[in-house]
Amino acid sequence: MKTLQNKVAVVTGGSRGIGAEISLCLAEAGAKVVVNYVKNQQTADQICQKITQAGGECLTIKADVSNPDEVKMLFNQTIAHFGQVDILVNNAGILIFKPIADISDDEFKRIFDINVDGVFYTLREAATRLADNGRVVNISSTVTRLMLPKYGIYAATKGAVEQLTRVFAKEVGEKGITANIVSPGPVDTELFRAGKTKEDIQRMAAMAALGRIGEVDDIAQIVLFLVSEESRWVTGQNIGANGGMV
Ligand SMILES: NC(=O)c1ccc[n+]([C@@H]2O[C@H](COP(=O)([O-])OP(=O)(O)OC[C@H]3O[C@@H](n4cnc5c(N)ncnc54)[C@H](OP(=O)(O)O)[C@@H]3O)[C@@H](O)[C@H]2O)c1
Repeated sequence: MKTLQNKVAVVTGGSRGIGAEISLCLAEAGAKVVVNYVKNQQTADQICQKITQAGGECLTIKADVSNPDEVKMLFNQTIAHFGQVDILVNNAGILIFKPIADISDDEFKRIFDINVDGVFYTLREAATRLADNGRVVNISSTVTRLMLPKYGIYAATKGAVEQLTRVFAKEVGEKGITANIVSPGPVDTELFRAGKTKEDIQRMAAMAALGRIGEVDDIAQIVLFLVSEESRWVTGQNIGANGGMV
């Protein structure tokens, strides 16, 4: 039997980059997967198609995680379609890569709206609607421990995600629910490459003990462990998935 048989997983931002690989990986392990997206329906449909072609079950749901009504609707539609939610992966996020001096008020608000408010809205729903023994994985970033220039407001949002997760783990533990953080180092996706030179990327690759940039599957495999039965005694933890960068 597949390890996630009969489990229903919601992956926010499950249509591209790391989230798309998490969607595929959880589906391969037997979960029914909701691929959430905000803009790119075509890419969400492609991921869903891959899942169904491999014999899995999948649903795409457009919802902006920074809008509390849309997050409620994400849970409503998932439960209406699949009957329950067992796994929530808070992966949706954006990066604004600039020195603090150059960040506008709108940019500051936008990144917090998506990266922090979005996680808060989904956790608030999950607190009452996640099935007993459910699993939450929130994606942070290794930059909360690196103090890299241009990552200031992004690191601030991820710091908030980490604190929310640790307290949430205490609040839902009595239902057997675990909540953990995965903090990737640089991973080869559109979000990471945007605005960086080849030299920037080589420099970051050299910072890892393993001497390379991460691949999406490096992260998806950690998430798979944290949503499995085998990880039941791990909660409130932050797993650095960064090839030994810090
Ligand atoms: N790549 C890295 O180096 C790295 C390192 C550490 C942490 N992370 C974190 O890992 C997560 C995924 O990053 P990534 O590199 O895979 O990013 P990505 O390739 O840019 O993909 C972002 C995903 O999030 C979705 N999304 C964006 N805003 C959304 C919103 N308001 N509501 C719902 N979905 C939304 C996008 O959907 P659409 O396609 O519809 O726009 C897309 O599916 C993020 O939280 C990021 O901070 C990434």
